[in-house]
Amino acid sequence: MSTIALAQFRKQVGPDLPLIGAGGVESVETAFAKIAAGANLVQFYTALVYRGARSSGGSPLRLSRLLDRRGLASIADAVGIETNNGGRTP
Ligand SMILES: Cc1cc2nc3c(=O)[nH]c(=O)nc-3n(C[C@H](O)[C@H](O)[C@H](O)COP(=O)(O)O)c2cc1C
Repeated sequence: MSTIALAQFRKQVGPDLPLIGAGGVESVETAFAKIAAGANLVQFYTALVYRGARSSGGSPLRLSRLLDRRGLASIADAVGIETNNGGRTP
């Protein structure tokens, strides 16, 4: 629900207002979903507390591969690319 709300918020405010995605981020994939829904920054908190940085954060390499698969050159290019389907990534 927080990702859907984020995507709707991004659509309402346009591209310039910095937004922080929060709620349920536990991996590179769930962090990317927030970015694709329009987040400029992502909060990684509860999963960090309960599972620790090594087991739940994912690696920059995995994020880099995820960007490559979508033909994106940078994280900035991914901000808001999925706002039309509620932030859900295929
Ligand atoms: C141990 C712990 C206790 C928390 N207690 C509260 C709380 O009392 N009130 C609150 O609004 N958020 C609290 N939070 C934060 C929210 O659970 C959490 O930040 C929010 O749901 C967003 O999810 P995220 O941490 O996955 O981004 C707590 C988080 C942790 C890890």
